[in-house]
Amino acid sequence: MPQHPHGPLRSFGRIKARPIKSRQASLLETLLPTIALDPSQPIDLLALKPDATEVWLEIGFGGGEHLAAQAERRPDVLVLGAEPFLNGVASALRHIEAAALTNVRLHTGDARDLLAALPDASLDRLFILFPDPWPKQRHHKRRLIQPDLVAGLARVLKPGGRLRFATDWANYADWTLERIMRAPEFVWIAQQADDWRVAPADHAPTRYEAKKLGDIAPVYLEFERSPTA
Ligand SMILES: C[S@@+](CC[C@H](N)C(=O)[O-])C[C@H]1O[C@@H](n2cnc3c(N)ncnc32)[C@H](O)[C@@H]1O
Repeated sequence: MPQHPHGPLRSFGRIKARPIKSRQASLLETLLPTIALDPSQPIDLLALKPDATEVWLEIGFGGGEHLAAQAERRPDVLVLGAEPFLNGVASALRHIEAAALTNVRLHTGDARDLLAALPDASLDRLFILFPDPWPKQRHHKRRLIQPDLVAGLARVLKPGGRLRFATDWANYADWTLERIMRAPEFVWIAQQADDWRVAPADHAPTRYEAKKLGDIAPVYLEFERSPTA
């Protein structure tokens, strides 16, 4: 297991599971190299899409359904994605190809490496949707949402930028609210229960969400990066 400056990769359990279908395998060879990000160097976002009106990042995009739906809905936006699970990346490539998307760039690894390569205040929106819940207490330390990650999210978001977090595990919702609200940079923008109980109008359902594996109906927590902190 590779060692990273931010600690070993523990938030995800597998890099490759099922055999990858042949069309998807060939997209890994052909399409992926044309849209892959290299976080070993600082990333120049302007060079990736000079006319982008905004830059968004989805962390742990799984099969890429949400990422592709957002990129198709907003062709003016540069949409970045990070996902270490290769079957997920292959599936995302299929969606990218099917919709002929040209505004997507992918990192096939740990999102924390990508965050480290992004300039301060460079993202308009961040999505973390249905991250691995690690429901057992002894596994909570493997959860993606940790103070270091929250600090990294605060650094890369523009003032006024938004972070959307969704889960269907009650304990992970509480865990995340507690950790993000502890960061002075973030404000939870919900005014009423429906703001977190009802999927936002621009949400696209994800594959994991559809499985309904959690212990509550999904909650959608939207945070704003404060302009002052
Ligand atoms: C439960 S799945 C949900 C996938 C997708 N968001 C959905 O809702 O269908 C969580 C995903 O997060 C990915 N993940 C876990 N740790 C990650 C990390 N450090 N960086 C990027 N992705 C990560 C996993 O590989 C997995 O595909």
